[in-house]
Amino acid sequence: MEKEKINRESFSGTLAVFFATLGSAVGLGNIWKFPYVVGKNGGAAFILVYLICVAFVGIPVMVSEFYIGRKTHKNVMGALKELTPNPLWKTIGVFGILTAYFIMFYYSCVAGWVYSYIFKALKGDFTNVTADSASTLFGKTVVGPWPPLVWQFIAMAVVSLILIKGVEKGIERVTKTLIPVLFVLIIVCGIRALTLPGASEGLKFLFKVDFSQITPGAILAAMGLAFFKLSLGMGTMVTYGSYFTKDTNLISTSAKVAVADTIVSLLAGIAIFPTVFSFGMKPEAGPGLLFMTIPLVFSKLPFGNILLVAFFFLTAIAATTAMISIVEVLIAYFTEEKGFKRSSAVIINAIIILLMGSLATLSADKASVLGNLSVFFGKGFFDTFDFISSNILMPIGGLLIALFVGYIVKKQSLINELSNNENLKNIGLITTFKYVLMGITPILLIIVFLSSLNIIKF
Ligand code: TRP
Repeated sequence: MEKEKINRESFSGTLAVFFATLGSAVGLGNIWKFPYVVGKNGGAAFILVYLICVAFVGIPVMVSEFYIGRKTHKNVMGALKELTPNPLWKTIGVFGILTAYFIMFYYSCVAGWVYSYIFKALKGDFTNVTADSASTLFGKTVVGPWPPLVWQFIAMAVVSLILIKGVEKGIERVTKTLIPVLFVLIIVCGIRALTLPGASEGLKFLFKVDFSQITPGAILAAMGLAFFKLSLGMGTMVTYGSYFTKDTNLISTSAKVAVADTIVSLLAGIAIFPTVFSFGMKPEAGPGLLFMTIPLVFSKLPFGNILLVAFFFLTAIAATTAMISIVEVLIAYFTEEKGFKRSSAVIINAIIILLMGSLATLSADKASVLGNLSVFFGKGFFDTFDFISSNILMPIGGLLIALFVGYIVKKQSLINELSNNENLKNIGLITTFKYVLMGITPILLIIVFLSSLNIIKF
C-alpha cells in the first residue's frame, strides 16, 4: 500500500513515483500537441518514427536523467557541478533553463485557451455545434487579442499562486485521482468517435503506414515530440529522480512511464482523427485541432455538455500540473543557485513568461495581430518558441545527457545506481542500456539533426 506521507526528500513508494513522473509527462503534449503534430505530418508513418524515438532515445535519456538525479539528490545545475568539473556538461543545465522559458512562452498561451473552453462549455456555446461553428469559435478564441491574453494571464496566475503557496504535494494527490478520470473520459470519447460514420478513415490515418510521408522535417518533429512528451532534455526528470527512493527501479519506471504516456497520446488520437474524417475536417488543421473536434464528439453523447466541461476542466488540470513542473525548474535555479526568495523568483519568472508569452499568443493564428510576422525560417513567434525548445534545445540537451552518462560516468557507478546496489538482478539489462546510450541514442540524434539541416539526405 502506498503511504500518504510524501516529504521533500523522496516520494513515498513505487506507485507514488510512477504517478508523479507520469503526472509530469501527461499534459497538453498528449491531448493537444500529439494529435495536431501527427495530423500535420501525415499520420501512421510519423507515429512509427515517434515510437522508435521513444524506445531508442526517450527511454535511455529518461534513465540517464534519473541516474543523475538520484545519484546526487540535486537540481540539474547542482547535480552536474557535483558530478563533473568540466564546464561543457554544465551546458545541460543552461539549456534546461532556456528550454523551460521557451516552452512556457507558448504552453501558457495554450493553457489559457483550455481554461477559456471550460467557460465556453459552461455557457453552452457548443450546443448545436457544427464543424464550421467549432472552427469559427476557435478562431475567435485565439485571435483576440485581449481575451486570449487575459486567459493566459489567468493560467499563469494560478500556476504562480500554487508555486508560491507550495501546495504542490496537495496537487499531486489531486492529479493522482483526476488523471485516471481524464483517461476514462478520453476512452469514452474515443469509443463514440469510432462509432461515427466514416470513422474508419481516421483509424487508417492513424495506423496505416505510408512511408512516403516520412520527410527529414517529420523525423525531427517526431524526435522533438518524444522529448516534449516525456519531459526530457531539460532536467525535469533529473529533479524527479532526485526525489526517488533507493529502491525505485529506474529502468522499469522509465519504460512504464513511456508506455503509459504513449497510450494516452494514442487514445487522444483515436478520439480525434475519426471525428476529423467523419466531419470532413482537415487533419493538418494545426494547433486548433483538439478545440475544433472534441466539442463535436461530445455533442454526439448523452450529457455531452457536462462531459465537455469535465473534459476541459481535467485537461486544464493536466496542463497546470505540467506547467508547475516546468516553472519549478526555473524557481529551483533562482532560489538555490541565485539566492532569490521563493515568492520573488515566482513573480519575476511569471512576468518574464507573460511578456514573452504574449508574443506567442499574438501570433498563434494567421489572423492574429502578429500572425504574419516571421521571426525564424518563416515561423512566427508561437511556432518558433515551440520549434526551438522541442526540436533544438531539448534534443541537444538529451544528446549531452546521453554522452555524459554513456561515456563520462564510470560503469561501476552506473551499475550500482541502476541495480540499486545489486539488489536488482539486472546487470544484462544495464549493459544493454549502456551500449544503446553510447551508440544508438547519440547516432540517431545526430542523424536526425544532420538530415533536418539537409546535410545528409535519405
Ligand atoms: N510532458 C508534458 C506534456 O506532455 C510537458 C512537460 C512537463 C515538459 N514538464 C516538462 C516538457 C519538462 C519538457 C520538459 O505536456
